[in-house]
Order: sequence, then structure tokens, then C-alpha cells
Amino acid sequence: MQMKAVLFRSPDEPLTLEEVELAEPRAGEVRVKLSAAGVCHSDYRVLVGEWGSVPPVVLGHEGAGVVESVGAGVTHLAPGDHVVLSWTPSCGACRYCVTGRPQLCQVAAVNAYNNLLPDGTTRIRSEGEDVHGYLSVGSFAEYAVVPAQGAIRIEGDVDAGVAALVGCAVTTGVGAAINTHPAAPGDSVLVFGAGGVGLSVVMGAALQSPGQLIVVDIAEDKLALARELGATHTIDAREHDVVEAVRELTGGRGVEVAYEAIGRAESVEQCYEALASGGTAVVVGQVATGQRISIDPMRMSGRELTLTGSNYGSARPSVDFQRILDMHERGLLPLDRLVGERVGLADLNEAFDAMGKGTAPGRIVVDIP
Ligand SMILES: NC(=O)c1ccc[n+]([C@@H]2O[C@H](COP(=O)([O-])OP(=O)(O)OC[C@H]3O[C@@H](n4cnc5c(N)ncnc54)[C@H](O)[C@@H]3O)[C@@H](O)[C@H]2O)c1
Ligand SMILES: [Zn+2]
Ligand SMILES: [Zn+2]
Repeated sequence: MQMKAVLFRSPDEPLTLEEVELAEPRAGEVRVKLSAAGVCHSDYRVLVGEWGSVPPVVLGHEGAGVVESVGAGVTHLAPGDHVVLSWTPSCGACRYCVTGRPQLCQVAAVNAYNNLLPDGTTRIRSEGEDVHGYLSVGSFAEYAVVPAQGAIRIEGDVDAGVAALVGCAVTTGVGAAINTHPAAPGDSVLVFGAGGVGLSVVMGAALQSPGQLIVVDIAEDKLALARELGATHTIDAREHDVVEAVRELTGGRGVEVAYEAIGRAESVEQCYEALASGGTAVVVGQVATGQRISIDPMRMSGRELTLTGSNYGSARPSVDFQRILDMHERGLLPLDRLVGERVGLADLNEAFDAMGKGTAPGRIVVDIP
């Protein structure tokens, strides 16, 4: 079939909305008619050349839609099912999957992270050339053929924009705060970055009844949104030394948990520096290829500090997507507040421009008619 898709060819060229060819789903795959997609900084990293990828690529890895057809052997999904797409279509059989850590699936790490389906191929073609779907999703398009294990069925009447964001920002951020390393009640918590992922960390951290929830950004409108979502204190990093400001707010102690949600080496170092004795810094943001950090290992041992990472919120998408949506339904996670501007597939160059300049509070959602 023919469909419209947004193609990335090189960091030097704008994205283009084109007609491409989409083949039928093969065994173990499904075709999804997309309803909405979200704009994540991980797409931006490819767009500006901070992460390499073999072009052309249909970017977008936050997506929700409806299953339209299923390939041979797919028994747990049927046409008409509402799904959220997962960018770690876990195999279910590797050592990480069988020990309950599908976010580390070693099969997905090879195929999906190289923008391929599990059999190492792609179903999208343009003028005789293979086109890759970003992270085995490729949601900036009218349809996507994805591995069946990457299409997670959801229940209920959920806004497509909210559902799409559960596919990355929400699960990544909320999951870091409730799965990877939850704060204890009364802890002082720092969240570095109030973008789509950072605000999701804020919502997840707020569920843990922290004593202080301190959020750092460089945009006042994002800090204002963070306060509405549960931040007790906000710091504008353009005006303050963040580590000093955190120490002042915590009576010199520092924070028990710090989440980095920007993807900047320096912010990771600041999270670590802002820790109280026994504290944990969780690296959620993903830096441009090649960036390194420098920390003082003496402080690490003497103060018993932990530096850890979080991939996809340490989530098990087949359980956690619905779990998060249920918490939204109960009013515990105000995910709709995360939805920012709503645009169309033709507007993605402007959307990424706004992300680069930091001028778009909330997550930009692409509605796909
Ligand atoms: N670990 C994972 O599984 C995972 C998943 C998705 C995204 N990510 C990563 O998370 C990071 C954030 O993604 P996002 O989509 O929320 O991005 P975003 O662009 O929406 O948000 C980034 C935020 O950081 C703020 N910021 C930028 N520079 C700053 C500075 N010097 N000091 C303070 N704040 C600053 C921006 O104003 C913005 O609010 C990216 O690195 C992305 O690749 C990780
Ligand atoms: Zn993402
Ligand atoms: Zn696996």
C-alpha cells in the first residue's frame, strides 16, 4: 500500500512528507493505523546528527493507533485493537526478558535500536530504496508495520495524544521514578530538565510523597508547568549555580535522589554533586554520542553515593503502559497536562525547531488523521 510518511535523509536537509510504499505485515508483525505521535528529544538527536543512523529513516518512536491487520502467527492482537507502540519490542526469550528486564532485551538492542524489524529488514520502501522505521516504530507516518510484541494493547477511551506519549516520555520518566529508583517518602528529590521526560519524572516522583521536589530548567514556562505538576521548588539554571541552590534549599545536605532528564554530561555531574550522603543519581537523559562525565570517586566511596541509569523507565511495557494509563484514569498522573501544541505531519520541521530552541512547553503531539 501507499502511505504518507515523514522522511529524514540527512541532518543538512529538512524533513520531507512523502508518499512511500508499505509492505504487508509478515509473520509475527502487525500493521497499525497511527492516530497520534509525540516529538521526543531522541528523534531530535538523530535529526541534528548527534546520533548516527542509516538513512532514510521515518523518525518518531512515540505512537498510538489501531491495529489494522495482523501477520501469520499473531494471536494476541486483532484488527480494531487500540495499541501504544513500544520501542523495545522485547523477544521474551533472552536472559534479560526471562529475568523480568525486557527494557534491556538483547535482541531489541540489536534490531530495534538499528531501526530494523526483528528479522533485520524493513517494510517501508521509497523509489526502490529501503526506508528504516526509527526504533522499530517510525510513527511520523500514516501507518507502521511493527513487531507484534511492540504493539501493546490498551483498554478504555484514552485521548490518542496521551496514549502516544505513554510510548516514550511518560513511561521513561514516570518509570524512572517508580520503577528504576523510587524516592522514599519525605526524601528531597531533584529533577534536572522539565521537558517531556523530565515532567514525567516529576509526575512519577510526586507519587512518592517527597519532602521536596526541586526542578531545574532554563525556561520559565516549563518551570511553571513543573510547579503545577508537583514541584515544590524550581531553579532557573541561567540565574543560579544549581548545586549551590540545591544545597541551600536542603539545609546544606543535598538531595536523596537526583534524576537527570536532559541528556547533558554537565547536568549528570551536577546531579551527582547535588547528592546527600547515601544518595542516588539516576541518568535518564541520553547524551550526544561521545560525551563523557567526570566525577570524584573519593566522594562516591566516602559518602556512599550511587550513580545509575534508566532505560525506558525500567518498564515492562506489556504491564506498565496500562498501569500508567490506569493511574491517569484515577487522577494520580495528570498526563493530559503534558500534552502541548498539537500539530500535523507537515509541521515537524517547525516542531523540532521549537524543541531545539526550547520554546515549546509540554510535549508536541502530532495528530494523524
Ligand atoms: N533513558 C531513556 O530511555 C530515554 C527515553 C527517552 C528520551 N531520553 C532522553 O531524555 C532526554 C530528554 O528528552 P525530552 O524529550 O524530555 O527533551 P526535551 O527537549 O523535551 O526536554 C529537555 C529539557 O531540558 C531543558 N534544558 C536544556 N538545556 C538545559 C540546561 N543547560 N539546564 C537546564 N535545563 C536545560 C530544556 O529547556 C527542556 O525543557 C534526552 O536526552 C532524550 O534523548 C531517554
Ligand atoms: Zn523518546
Ligand atoms: Zn529479549
